[in-house]
Amino acid sequence: MDDTLAIFHATPMSTAFDYARYDRIRPIRWTGNTLELLDQRQLPFLTDRVVCHSSDEVARAIRTLTVRGAPAIGIAAAWGVVLAGDAVEAGNGAEALVSLQPALHRLNAARPTAVNLAWALNRMQRVLVDAGNDWRLRLRDEAQRIADEDLASNRRMGTLGAALLGPGSGVLTHCNTGSLATGGFGTALGVIRAGVAQGCITSVFASETRPWLQGARLTVWELQQDGIDATLIADSAAAHLMKTGAVQWIIVGADRICANGDTANKIGTYGLAIAARHHGVGFMVVAPSSTIDMATPTGGDIEIEQRDPEELLEIRNVRITADGIRAWNPVFDVTPAELIDVIVTERGMVERPSRDAIARLWE
Ligand code: MRU
Repeated sequence: MDDTLAIFHATPMSTAFDYARYDRIRPIRWTGNTLELLDQRQLPFLTDRVVCHSSDEVARAIRTLTVRGAPAIGIAAAWGVVLAGDAVEAGNGAEALVSLQPALHRLNAARPTAVNLAWALNRMQRVLVDAGNDWRLRLRDEAQRIADEDLASNRRMGTLGAALLGPGSGVLTHCNTGSLATGGFGTALGVIRAGVAQGCITSVFASETRPWLQGARLTVWELQQDGIDATLIADSAAAHLMKTGAVQWIIVGADRICANGDTANKIGTYGLAIAARHHGVGFMVVAPSSTIDMATPTGGDIEIEQRDPEELLEIRNVRITADGIRAWNPVFDVTPAELIDVIVTERGMVERPSRDAIARLWE
């Protein structure tokens, strides 16, 4: 296995922020005719790549969490459309749009909750509407643009979000919202990266994120790669941590932000928001505008993904329960807007989100 190929290094930026130091992992790489994905099922013990040659292989990688995190799913799906395009005959964009419908449908069905998936597929389809015989090239350009814009958004949100943190802040994050989950830098983890770089964050806590352990397997590893000190906690230790006064902010990402500000994110986020309000701890959601879904009015309208109960009954293929035990495994929950202090996007921030405030941001 070749680590140097599996962990894609970011291009150093000649700005005040040393991105090369604080953001070194890239989970998605387009090679020109295949899509390489850092296999997040194997991290942190193996840094293997999965090579996708077809859109159905990309759909499978999304479904099995080989690639995961709302923005990363969207970017991978966009490259999946490019691969689907390479497998069909069409003289122009309109013809391609028809031929690609089955593949687009299968990509869209891979996971239901993160709206970035449908958002990216819609962007890819819009490109085809007026494309001529250069439609394959136009698809490639659009997929690259989606990836590049995501990285730029994350860097912008990092600056905006970190400006809200007071000196000496302790923060707690949930799931993995870093470079592994995005086009780079991360959403909530981008704010944490920026806050650490600026010296206003003095301690970072990450919850393990049962059952898939995105926090334990991915977040603390990702931070370690970048030399950022972090402390892992059990999910069930979060309220106690808040009570000790060690954290001033909970900083999380999002899979879908509704028109009224209700936000779906990794299971456990809702509980963190309730505990944060009780303890006077700030609750910040960080997500690009591609995660805002104006077509979904409230959190009650979001489809919550249910995954295989085996994810709860086993840890790394080792059974942890007696045979015959039943389990319920919803992998997202919805935090109502009234429990969110601020939503940070690349377009700007919304404090105490409401339907009107989200609409103003959207316009
Ligand atoms: O099931 P996952 O690992 O795809 O869930 C990921 C999350 O819930 C993240 O918090 C969210 O997608 C934001 S990632 C920038």
